[in-house]
Amino acid sequence: MILIVGGAGYIGSHTNKALNEAGYETVVLDNLSYGHEESIKWGEFCKCDLANIDDVDEVFNKYDITAVMHFSSFIDVGESVTNPEKYYTNNVVNTMNLLHVMLKHNVKKFIFSSTCATYGVPQKIPLVEDHPQNPINPYGMTKLMVEKILKDYDNAYGLKSVILRYFNASGADESGEIGEWHNPETHLIPLILDAAIGKREDIKIFGTDYDTEDGTCIRDYIHVTDLADAHIRALKYLEDENTSNEFNLGNGVGFSVRQVIESAKKVTGRDFKVEETKRRPGDPAVLIGSSKKAKDTLGWNPQYTDIDDIIKTAWIWHQKLNK
Ligand code: UFG
Repeated sequence: MILIVGGAGYIGSHTNKALNEAGYETVVLDNLSYGHEESIKWGEFCKCDLANIDDVDEVFNKYDITAVMHFSSFIDVGESVTNPEKYYTNNVVNTMNLLHVMLKHNVKKFIFSSTCATYGVPQKIPLVEDHPQNPINPYGMTKLMVEKILKDYDNAYGLKSVILRYFNASGADESGEIGEWHNPETHLIPLILDAAIGKREDIKIFGTDYDTEDGTCIRDYIHVTDLADAHIRALKYLEDENTSNEFNLGNGVGFSVRQVIESAKKVTGRDFKVEETKRRPGDPAVLIGSSKKAKDTLGWNPQYTDIDDIIKTAWIWHQKLNK
């Protein structure tokens, strides 16, 4: 059985669906602090907090777990700057609790949700896996710390891990049954769709004076279904190769904030107010990843390369969520 920690969240719930469709049995572990029980539509569910080692141990006693995928991190970069303790405690200490219980039960396959935020300010675009990692905020640092811990645990205990560094996760399952559902929401696409649906009065562009063609930040938007597919491939890789590795997961193309807004206007057929405001601290101008390694090694081939197609799926979900 595959344990999905954080399976009630955005990427975890999509991966839970993909695993079940691929014939795996799953159990979701989630404390529902940010996740939604409604998003757990497949497999078993244990409401459990990683802070409580005994409860986590119980889950491992109850189910025959062969591998663990770990999605349950806090992700608000700004909050990680003002409240780093919250981030180091959940993202690092609680992850160590999980690894502790895994080792106790001799479970040695781990797939970890990391981030392009571990690279910090890019020296060269597209970002490749061996680009120096110098995070510029506590959020990125928590993820890098876990990456380092995983290297040491592999050397010492033979715990094998695949580290997946996501770029900007976006979109929703085409069925519309699960999707992006953060509270509070800070991400660009759902905020734009809130403006399109009339839930917000405008969308603010954070900075129009970047060194990019239209002055706004460029990001690599990768569809959540493609991310889920990469997790299945990472699991097969661990099963077949039993080797640790790390991969970037991005589309290899970037879209500016203005381009994303234009696409959303086109896809939704709605107009809304756009306000140009000052930069948000800590935003690099351009983040684009090279996914060559994931393509070559895992055979991963993202299907949603067009921003309109990504936003179409997000819009289906967004309308349903806000009915
Ligand atoms: N943006 C706006 N207006 C908004 C919200 C965002 O202009 O209202 C801009 C941001 O400044 C940025 C771009 O839209 O240039 C995307 O911002 P997001 O907040 O959607 O995502 P980030 O690029 O900040 O994502 C980063 C990392 C991820 C990490 C995530 C944490 O790239 O790896 O933060 O949530 F997971």
